[in-house]
Amino acid sequence: MPSSQSATLRVSDQQPTDSEVADEVLGSLAETPPRLPSKYFYDEHGSKLFDQICELPEYYLTRTELAIMQADASQMAQHIGPRAALVEFGSGSSLKTRLLLEALEDPVACVLIDISAEHLFAVTEELASDFPHIEFIPVAGDFTQPLDLPEPSRPARRRVVYFPGSTIGNFARGDAAGLLNSMRRIAGADGGALVGVDRVKDTAVLEAAYNDAAGVTAQFNRNILVHLNRVLNGDFNPEAFEHRAPWVSEASRIEMHLVSKKDQCVNLAGERLSFPKDQVVLTEFSHKYTVEAFAELAAESGLGVARVWSDPAEYFSVLYLEPA
Ligand code: SAH
Ligand code: AVI
Repeated sequence: MPSSQSATLRVSDQQPTDSEVADEVLGSLAETPPRLPSKYFYDEHGSKLFDQICELPEYYLTRTELAIMQADASQMAQHIGPRAALVEFGSGSSLKTRLLLEALEDPVACVLIDISAEHLFAVTEELASDFPHIEFIPVAGDFTQPLDLPEPSRPARRRVVYFPGSTIGNFARGDAAGLLNSMRRIAGADGGALVGVDRVKDTAVLEAAYNDAAGVTAQFNRNILVHLNRVLNGDFNPEAFEHRAPWVSEASRIEMHLVSKKDQCVNLAGERLSFPKDQVVLTEFSHKYTVEAFAELAAESGLGVARVWSDPAEYFSVLYLEPA
């Protein structure tokens, strides 16, 4: 594991190589329908666009989960107990993490895992300066793959995986179950997992959240092409693809699509790919759950629901899971 020690920060860089990215992306584009893995939205610009999405009036998820954290983080901290080490999946700008850390009694460490390396390192520096008594260790890498997780310098009483944002919703059922399994293994018999889950609700509210009037989500969707052009020496014209985000009720998910506006050929990672007019490229699933459906999924991975916190409208829930 390549890692380095700066004055205050241990950094672990476990990012996929460009040739691993090329194999995964070309393989996903060869599926029917063609797909692009949603983690590739997130380069430095993609992380900034996601932060802008979080501020949009239509995107209720972030402000709702932040309100739950403001109201209930002290109860969450009681469940977690003193001297915990957090392992955060997909930490992004870590705004909710700050609220959890403020509520926890003497947290020893926080391991932040994110694929968007530059953004991760910048956010970790800020956290380390704002919480000088906590050890922050950024791990730049893909949490769906086996990662070496660094041990905190000070022994922790328990490990808790924190997975806010409803990022678990971005995974198909089998992949989400796989992630819950790996969270259970990381937490161990005495640990737990605190997971943010977006709830099923009115279709108009859901579709507005992914089709905002300012067009930021459309830019975020097209940024996957901009990012892959840079990493895989490609020549996608992002403007030649239309953003769509329908609610697909039978799968209980929003799907993000990029739809080819014309017959076109694209060079990527040394391959020439054709996209006929109206070809749909699937870029993201965003599953919405009832609490019961999510509890069933967690149970399949050996996790039981110890506690659920929700906002008054029941738009979003934060669940504390423990090994069953
Ligand atoms: N937790 C934050 C950010 C959510 S956005 C919040 O609640 O607001 C999703 C985050 O997960 C992004 O920062 C993205 O870079 C990261 N991410 C997505 N897929 C990932 C993967 N497979 N491995 C590591 N990080 C991933
Ligand atoms: C990170 N994830 C939970 C977001 C979501 O809502 O599925 C990503 C996103 N996609 C479009 N807007 C936001």
